[in-house]
Amino acid sequence: MAKKTEGNLIVGLDIGTSKVLAIVAEINDDGTHEIIGVGHHPSKGLRRGVVADIESTVSSIQRAIEEAELMAGCQIFSVYAGIAGAHINSFNSHGVVAIRDSEVGQDDLDRVIEAAQAMAIPNDQQILHVLPQEYIIDGQDEVKEPLAMSGVRLEAKVHIITGAVSSAQNIVKCIKRCGLQVDDIILEQLASSESVLSDDERELGVCMIDIGGGTTDIAIFHAGTIKHTAVIPIAGDQVTNDIAIVLQTPTQAAEELKKQYGCALVSQVGVNERIEAPSIGGKPARKLSRHNLAEVIEPRMEEIFVLAQAELRRSGFEEIVNSVVITGGSAKLEHAVDLAEEVFHMPVRLGLPKYEGSLSEVVLSPVFATGTGLVKFGHKGQRTEKSKQLKTSKFSDVLSRMKSWFKGSF
Ligand SMILES: Nc1ncnc2c1ncn2[C@@H]1O[C@H](COP(=O)(O)OP(=O)(O)OP(=O)(O)O)[C@@H](O)[C@H]1O
Ligand SMILES: [Mg+2]
Repeated sequence: MAKKTEGNLIVGLDIGTSKVLAIVAEINDDGTHEIIGVGHHPSKGLRRGVVADIESTVSSIQRAIEEAELMAGCQIFSVYAGIAGAHINSFNSHGVVAIRDSEVGQDDLDRVIEAAQAMAIPNDQQILHVLPQEYIIDGQDEVKEPLAMSGVRLEAKVHIITGAVSSAQNIVKCIKRCGLQVDDIILEQLASSESVLSDDERELGVCMIDIGGGTTDIAIFHAGTIKHTAVIPIAGDQVTNDIAIVLQTPTQAAEELKKQYGCALVSQVGVNERIEAPSIGGKPARKLSRHNLAEVIEPRMEEIFVLAQAELRRSGFEEIVNSVVITGGSAKLEHAVDLAEEVFHMPVRLGLPKYEGSLSEVVLSPVFATGTGLVKFGHKGQRTEKSKQLKTSKFSDVLSRMKSWFKGSF
């Protein structure tokens, strides 16, 4: 067995509204990674993707980490954590610099990315990601790999994602209280996209929708790069609430009914299929039709897809998007894909993590999209950071970006 040291482990920590999930992966000598441990625990401390109760979140993280450590037979020191919530903002920006030695070097790239970030960001917001979309050298656009290209003027188009400093700090605080370090904080839909989308989809234009418990996270890609991100604060929890209210059943029972018998299309359920819903206040359980359950679920799921479609329209990329990929726990709902096709009028598929190594049978579910994506994102980031260090010895980027998250988080 390969040695499990701090240096060759990557841990993704998805602190979701429904569950906290820790995934431990080991980096192989050939540069690939293998999942060696998975731990999850129900999450009670988040509201709509944002930490609302530190103690409860800390305890869920601890449990998930312990379980993952036990399965992997290793000790976890640091994690790549996800971030989501309505506080996330994103926009496209543009930077221009003069190329220093008539050939693009790493220094020019750093400067042009920095120039693209030079804009007023509200004091309570912090840049989470600056994602290069394309470079333009002396007017020649769509350059993906500008290093070593000749020219005098370098432009960069980037997608910038910001989040509330306090939300990021609360995530860091919870993780630190578990005795762990934070390698980086990654927007959850970027992680999910990394896990479930193919390069072809990203090239041709795709809208990825991760429907979790508290938030529905959207990421739009075209020509291989990210174009738009958004968060809608409605997801599976609302579906469960609707069931609890309409069918007068406890929330836990509503959740079970949804998972076991739920369907996103009323037309696909026979009226004669009977189910039993526990009542509130010790009254006897009631028998009802599965059709009644679908009648509650369909309008809420439709609302989520209509809101996602409105976001796609608002982004201005509706015309160039060719397909939709839905993932996250709520995408497991029977016929969710068909309902989404009715709303979007384009091909829709279920997004499962693209991973074939060990424990693939465990993580092959839309619930694991963000967790497996955090591992992939972390692994990719480490590789880029390493090659960047070799080229420029400049490692301060991530650290300086993270400084303000750590401020006041002890
Ligand atoms: N088989 C299923 N059928 C229908 N819904 C399901 C099923 N399994 C899970 N869900 C729903 O998926 C949601 C949880 O999904 P997920 O684990 O992706 O959320 P999360 O990451 O914890 O939350 P968020 O990303 O919103 O913070 C819950 O609302 C749950 O009811
Ligand atoms: Mg999630």
